[in-house]
Amino acid sequence: MKAVALTRYLPIGDPQSLLDVTLPDPTPTGRDLLVRVEAVSVNPVDTKQRAPSAKVEPQPRVLGWDAAGTVAAAGPQVTLFKPGDEVYYAGDVTRQGSNSELQLVDERIVARKPKSLDFAQAAAIPLTAITAWEGFFERMRIDPAGASRGATLLIIGGAGGVGSIGIQIAKVAGLTVIATASRPETVAWVKELGADHVVDHSQPLRPQIEALGLKFVDYIANFNDTDRYWEAMGDLIKPQGAICLIVGNRAPLAQEGVRGKSAAVCWELMFTRPRFATPDMIEQHRLLTRVAELIDAGRIRGTLREVLRPINASNLRAAHAKLESGKMIGKLVVADWN
Ligand SMILES: NC(=O)c1ccc[n+]([C@@H]2O[C@H](COP(=O)([O-])OP(=O)(O)OC[C@H]3O[C@@H](n4cnc5c(N)ncnc54)[C@H](OP(=O)(O)O)[C@@H]3O)[C@@H](O)[C@H]2O)c1
Repeated sequence: MKAVALTRYLPIGDPQSLLDVTLPDPTPTGRDLLVRVEAVSVNPVDTKQRAPSAKVEPQPRVLGWDAAGTVAAAGPQVTLFKPGDEVYYAGDVTRQGSNSELQLVDERIVARKPKSLDFAQAAAIPLTAITAWEGFFERMRIDPAGASRGATLLIIGGAGGVGSIGIQIAKVAGLTVIATASRPETVAWVKELGADHVVDHSQPLRPQIEALGLKFVDYIANFNDTDRYWEAMGDLIKPQGAICLIVGNRAPLAQEGVRGKSAAVCWELMFTRPRFATPDMIEQHRLLTRVAELIDAGRIRGTLREVLRPINASNLRAAHAKLESGKMIGKLVVADWN
């Protein structure tokens, strides 16, 4: 099968950083599906996993953890899918990724793709949707069914991949969403996605929140820089509120602020379930199924903004370079093998 892989960890400007390779076709066992990949999305996890280092892989390593495609074969213990099913999934960072014509993935973290989206549009969704859904509903315990209706949620980094789907998922749960964006085009995008208010993360947040008539917010989802907003989050969170973090901190985090507020601070890492094969890992199948239903019902729209064709090392290098600029709006997908 064709694949795009690395053996060395090089800056993305180096043509050797991602390579076109041919690898043996994998065979599914256990609960694995063998998926014929039609489209892949890029995420910061790809560029973080590819970060330059002296390490050398003995075998080509395939990145990419966001895909849509068709089930080509199923392992003997598979019960949820059959060959021919059109699926979407993020996958498992500890296994080979989706930048290959064929990929093995555990059925418990896969769902049928939204019928109303093509493969490229569908590939833009899974990793970011899992992150926002788990962050809101499982880590911060917001009620997806509406009991949290009217609560305020500040989303830091509203226009990126996670923010773009997160705003919409939070609106489905009835929250009042305050999204941050710092450029005219990202302000316009987050409003289009349903943000009730927009504040600029390049400016102090408190005066902007107070200008909305609020002293505190009930929930904060920080989809960008944990260290940079830590103090502001401690200041803005409501007493006994909850903060969800998805980006690792660089320096120790001071207790003041959140401790005085008895605020819950939750970490979300969407690879935790597949990585540890937790007994509830099938929840990712369930939540992706629910997201597909919401998309097909017209309650959540796709977040795809740009497609590069075909899937090859040159286009994936271009996609990584764009991502590394930090200026992404919505999602970028690489689709088709020819
Ligand atoms: N833990 C997990 O499971 C998990 C899952 C997914 C992603 N992540 C991490 O979450 C982060 C975001 O991922 P993503 O896919 O959303 O990234 P992304 O699409 O690359 O995010 C781009 C957006 O970031 C915004 N931004 C840039 N600088 C900012 C700042 N200082 N403060 C707030 N926003 C800023 C930009 O908005 P403006 O142009 O308006 O400034 C831009 O629209 C990454 O670090 C990623 O690794 C973690």
